[in-house]
Amino acid sequence: MALRLSSRFIKTPFLARGYPLVVGKEKGEEIAHSKTTVQKKLLTRIPGAQYGGRHSCTMLPGGGIGPELMTYVRDIFQYAGCPIDFEVIDIDPTSAGNDDLDYAIMSIKRNGVALKGNIETKSEDIDATSRNVALRNELDLFVNVIHTRSFEGVPSRHKDIDIVLIRQNTDGEYAMLEHESVRGIVESMKVVTEENASRVARYAFDYARRNNRKRVTTVHKANIMKLSDGLFLEVANKLSKEYPEIEHNNMIIDNTCMQLVSNPKQFDVMNMTNLYGTIVSNVICGLIGGAGLLSGRNYGDHYAIFEPGTRNTGTAIAGKNIANPIAMLNASVDMLNHLGHREHAKVISQAIHQTLVVDRIHTPDIGGNHSSTDIIENILRILSKKRVHWNHDAINV
Ligand code: NAI
Repeated sequence: MALRLSSRFIKTPFLARGYPLVVGKEKGEEIAHSKTTVQKKLLTRIPGAQYGGRHSCTMLPGGGIGPELMTYVRDIFQYAGCPIDFEVIDIDPTSAGNDDLDYAIMSIKRNGVALKGNIETKSEDIDATSRNVALRNELDLFVNVIHTRSFEGVPSRHKDIDIVLIRQNTDGEYAMLEHESVRGIVESMKVVTEENASRVARYAFDYARRNNRKRVTTVHKANIMKLSDGLFLEVANKLSKEYPEIEHNNMIIDNTCMQLVSNPKQFDVMNMTNLYGTIVSNVICGLIGGAGLLSGRNYGDHYAIFEPGTRNTGTAIAGKNIANPIAMLNASVDMLNHLGHREHAKVISQAIHQTLVVDRIHTPDIGGNHSSTDIIENILRILSKKRVHWNHDAINV
């Protein structure tokens, strides 16, 4: 009997580590991407492209509301005088080849940094692999960080939430390795590696130490997935011994969701596998006001991608001038901070805060009746009084 292997597995070589190098023929860069993750850590960080004090950054608008949100970011950056030049790349998730994806990867490798909207992956199309996952894998962005904080004045189910989610971003349930071994029986692989579990746990404990956080909670399902989640938990338990000042506990994912809804204040920093991370981040974002507020950061040893925390495309509300632009604007502020443009980041962040909390300009997703452009106009009005002038202190050289 002919067995049906998922064609996504066969046709998409970029999922394998041996993805053909289409870019970075420069020697150093080629080396950087042909080494294992451990070897990569020993290499010198590739500096981001910076010409005449300005940074070049890749912009991937993605689908749905992504393009309109990116227009707002560009308007605000231009108005605030941010020294950033965007290289805009559209990725068509329905295209047969991977040329646009290759080009995006090349651009991020050159610039070091990207601002990203979500690229839609239709679940009914078996041949279409997630470009989002491919980007994260190819750039080895092993950790996703979302700092979830309540916004004063935004209607929400819980107040004063302050939880940092640290999510393994490349392994786990997102391996996209599926096949139908016998007709009617489909198998899907969840991959946990000691190396990546250890990198993400270390990131979580280091983050807690650096930011004076008290507790790390490792989220798992090791009662059922004894080997895979068992390894993830074991690695975190072992590493926690190196951080005696930080309490480490663990919680099963099911209970975690219940505890988040009923008593979220017990959580401080959370360490999770890939799928649990996206579930938990969507639950918390829902608790504090939805998909339109929080940003997420993706880091590897060499590159970083900034994006809205819940990674939705918002296709149903695209072009209606009602999408909440705050999550993408917060992502752009994260990017400015990452590049060292702290003054620009600060004034934009203050203008966002004033718009949301003081002036209470809210889009319908958080109970208001304002449009996306009302928010942007208000931010521009605030910025017009505080224009930042480019200076050397603000530049990360
Ligand atoms: P969706 O794009 O339909 O968004 C979910 C809800 O949040 C919708 O009601 C939408 O209107 C609202 N929303 C999202 N962003 C908003 C904003 N800025 N302002 C106001 N409302 C906003 O999400 P869905 O159905 O989960 O996914 C759509 C696509 O995104 C799929 O292709 C999926 O593969 C992809 N995706 C979704 C992720 C998720 O965490 N939900 C993660 C990765 C990919």
